[in-house]
Amino acid sequence: MDPPPIEIERAEGVWLYAKDGRRIIDAVSSWWVNLHGHANPRIAAAIAEQAQKMEHVILAGFTHGPAEELASRLRKWVAPELTHLFFSDDGSTAVEVALKLAVQHFSNKERREKCEIVALEHGYHGDTAGAMSVSDDSPFTDPFRAMRYPVHRVHSAYCYRCPVGLRRESCHIECVAQLEALLAERGDRIAAVIVEPLLQAAGGMIVHPTEFLQKVRSLCTAHDVFLIADEVLTGFARTGKMFACDLAGVVPDLMCLSKGITGGFLPMGATLCSDRVESAFRSENRQHTFYHGHSYTGNALACAAANASLKIFDDEPVFDRIAAIANINFERLSQLKELPQVGDVRLIGTIGAIELQAEDAGYLSAMRPKLYRFFLERGVLLRPLGNVVYVLPPYVISSDELNHIYDVILDAVQTLL
Ligand SMILES: Cc1ncc(COP(=O)(O)O)c(C=O)c1O
Repeated sequence: MDPPPIEIERAEGVWLYAKDGRRIIDAVSSWWVNLHGHANPRIAAAIAEQAQKMEHVILAGFTHGPAEELASRLRKWVAPELTHLFFSDDGSTAVEVALKLAVQHFSNKERREKCEIVALEHGYHGDTAGAMSVSDDSPFTDPFRAMRYPVHRVHSAYCYRCPVGLRRESCHIECVAQLEALLAERGDRIAAVIVEPLLQAAGGMIVHPTEFLQKVRSLCTAHDVFLIADEVLTGFARTGKMFACDLAGVVPDLMCLSKGITGGFLPMGATLCSDRVESAFRSENRQHTFYHGHSYTGNALACAAANASLKIFDDEPVFDRIAAIANINFERLSQLKELPQVGDVRLIGTIGAIELQAEDAGYLSAMRPKLYRFFLERGVLLRPLGNVVYVLPPYVISSDELNHIYDVILDAVQTLL
């Protein structure tokens, strides 16, 4: 059992201040949402200012300044092909929207048979029913088997546990051959392939070679299948570039954003798509409308927070902060890799992960509760994914703070294992 919830009264930068006087460092950006530090004064002020003008209005048939500003700010960062934007509430709904847009695109084109979805082993896309369906089987989805619709599941590029028994140094990304064969056989029935680009997060912080994503992109193009990039976690520079797809030079047909979009202040989802995807919805036939809307779609306070967060990217040395984190991750993971208790280390941008040797590897590993407790007792919030410990801090973390987190991890590995 995990310890009882800790009541947090205040948070600032990377620190959480508990009612009982404890100070805890947030090494996981509060479930991967926080970018520029807790209680960031610029984002807080933008929300307060917006709240005094207009908190929320319906976004169907209406629009407002903060939503328009956000659309144009995002356009500056995303690939020019992603011309359309659809707001929703969170990461799971951004994924639902992408899946539904892909399927309805072909339905509107009188190709109703082209409705199947392909997803990767170890994938995680959220907890709503559709997002759970495309996520791989896990303890999160197990009780809900009957509620999940069928999807095609293909290998991911989990190099440490290569699904086709090869080694990265000498392989040619043979793991993608399964997707290739599936698309060759059933491409005319498949609407989309959904991936977490370059980093499968909840599945164990699995970092893919860029070539894997590039090959998936070319296969999708060759078979007229949409590529959905779920950048819910990887978006907003977690992997070192604004979007993980940028690192691989890949442009998806649909892209899901959430988590860091508001700097971690308010929930918001956004799904971007290409003109081609959207074109099937431009029709006089009302049955071709995308009938999907959430009450808080395009909430003005969330838009104000997102605009303020993107202004911080414009005015502050955010990418220098990210590079400093990446350097420390590299140094510290290189040391940790030498320990006999460590099976693999993985890093991408601001994220560093350590897969510990375990006989019961996986989310339910017995190591997890011991590690979680150990870290908390030392004032560090880390939430291992079973036997995988990872660091994913807000970008404002200092070198000393990040090194301290790694010292505590080193201590845990040497003391507990
Ligand atoms: C890649 C990815 N997609 C979707 C989600 C779901 O986001 P949310 O929890 O905001 O619904 C997550 C959450 O961790 C995620 O990591």
